[in-house]
Amino acid sequence: MVDVDSFIDEKLGEIADAVGDANAVIALSGGVDSSTAAALAYEAIGDQLTPVYVDTGLMRRDETDQIRETFDYMDSLRVVDARDRFLDALGDTTDPEEKRHVIGERFIREFETVAKAVDADYLVQGTIYPDRIESEGTIKSHHNVGGLPEVVDFDGIVEPMRDLYKDEVREVARELDLDELVAERMPFPGPGLAVRIIGEVTEEKLAVAREANHVVEEELEEYEPWQALAAVIGKATGVKGDNRVHGWVVSVRSVESRDGMTARAQEIDWETLQRIQSRITGARENVARVVYDVTHKPPATIEYE
Ligand code: XMP
Repeated sequence: MVDVDSFIDEKLGEIADAVGDANAVIALSGGVDSSTAAALAYEAIGDQLTPVYVDTGLMRRDETDQIRETFDYMDSLRVVDARDRFLDALGDTTDPEEKRHVIGERFIREFETVAKAVDADYLVQGTIYPDRIESEGTIKSHHNVGGLPEVVDFDGIVEPMRDLYKDEVREVARELDLDELVAERMPFPGPGLAVRIIGEVTEEKLAVAREANHVVEEELEEYEPWQALAAVIGKATGVKGDNRVHGWVVSVRSVESRDGMTARAQEIDWETLQRIQSRITGARENVARVVYDVTHKPPATIEYE
């Protein structure tokens, strides 16, 4: 990218030319790529673009509110409350890949419904250069919105940032006043908290995972991890007040990494770990213990599933 301003000018023209007077949709994930693509496309074609955010119920705490706030200026924004449908679809699925598959499928159906309702002929995507390279080799079936073009019948796909690297996307985002997204939260997997819950996904486990991830992100920010997370990994006995409880075990993980392919577990000081433990067990009556994961990648992956 030579210069941000001329990049933006050029792309605004390209998007407007590609879409003409038709309608387009984009799936917002809350991440910087799709948000930047949405902001660009909205500037190019205004309300001919419908940005769609599917609330899967598997996202981080406050994510949906933040999306509403950030994109408040887009009159055509659609927030789809699909929380119950995702939980229903997951049912008692426990296999990690099967969970990803169910979530990916459900996502496509939700998105397709909106695309049809607004009569969209074009799909805008926040694909960036590394995504195109990565999708050539797959380790896990990564659910972003990869399956959309094959399943939903569009006249065309518009990917304004397909040649950019992440740091260039951030420059564009900054230029478009998406500063709060540039400050950027850690990477978060497409299937969300579902891969931070071992086995069946239930409302109860989701509530624990959501709160625990919030605490961990907040407490570990100063360590500048590549990713810090909490996972609900099983049940164990604990004692709360005068009662023995059979509560959830939360595993905390914080890693340094350059590209997510390998990672090192971070050394965290005892006081911070204790604060995390006490905040999580204090916030959730049904958490019996908190452990810290010291495993590098390999042999462990970053996520738990
Ligand atoms: P793992 O767990 O394989 O994760 O060590 C490496 C990086 O990829 C992210 N990740 C995913 N991202 N869909 C995504 O969009 C997925 O299914 C998925 N699984 C893992 C993970 O958060 C880490 O940054």
